[in-house]
Amino acid sequence: MAMAARSAGAAARPTLPVMRTVADLRRTVAAWRAAGQTVGLVPTMGALHAGHLALVRRAQADCDRTIVTLFVNPTQFGAGEDFAAYPRDEAEDRAKLATVGADLLYAPGVTEIYPDGFATTVTVASLTDGLCGPVRPGHFSGVATVVTKLLLQSLPDAAYFGEKDYQQLLVIRRLARDLDIPVRIEGVPTVRDADGLALSSRNRYLSAGERAAAVALPTILRQVAERLTDPTRAVADETARARDALLQAGFTRIDYVEVCDAETLEPLAHVTRPARILAAAWLGSTRLIDNMPVGRA
Ligand code: PAF
Repeated sequence: MAMAARSAGAAARPTLPVMRTVADLRRTVAAWRAAGQTVGLVPTMGALHAGHLALVRRAQADCDRTIVTLFVNPTQFGAGEDFAAYPRDEAEDRAKLATVGADLLYAPGVTEIYPDGFATTVTVASLTDGLCGPVRPGHFSGVATVVTKLLLQSLPDAAYFGEKDYQQLLVIRRLARDLDIPVRIEGVPTVRDADGLALSSRNRYLSAGERAAAVALPTILRQVAERLTDPTRAVADETARARDALLQAGFTRIDYVEVCDAETLEPLAHVTRPARILAAAWLGSTRLIDNMPVGRA
């Protein structure tokens, strides 16, 4: 039904409706529900690229209606991070969404999400103990809180997140399960440039030289992932080699290169079960993250 409606409208796509308030969003979703339609949600902070559009296409394939949210969430940025500089261009984002034909853009202002006196925080323990957790204190609570709100505001059947932010994906899956939010959390594979660099809104910060060096991140992670399919190889040796290689390639600082259980994110010494290699490293003032499966994950 979703596909039929979309292809019929492909010749002349209606303008993408934009809503700013929870009340308008809820009214629209209620009307869709009353018509027996299913709803997919794609939360974003804007600065959309082909990775986001892949999430929208996946939501459209699964659901009758697709909502994209656009909210640069202040609570997930730490002091000294790029909240003020984060790219914001709603007109450009709307133009990109018009190419895929989402049904609704929900772009609330800060006070719609965090009204005066807002005092509640969602924190997911354990999964946030390692990787980006310690280096970005408060980040995952900010993400978990805003995503919980977006899920409860729109009550979709499914919500779509990129595997590029793998730790975030697991955190969101856990919060939905722990808080009994009736939604499927779907992970969508990372979209990469032709040379392998994972698409990210932050790639636009890279200079030409940094962009050329950035490809070392997926290349090295892929090599290590391949080597670690041999369970006799020690993770510590391989990740130490990966860190050296990243520095050689021009990365200026490394937050982590780790191999973890693909579900719990527990660090592994040898890969004897489904695992993921995850890394965060800096090129000048730009922090890049990436991850990929090791073996069967
Ligand atoms: O991945 C993102 O863009 C953000 O962390 C999210 C999930 C939209 C929450 O602000």
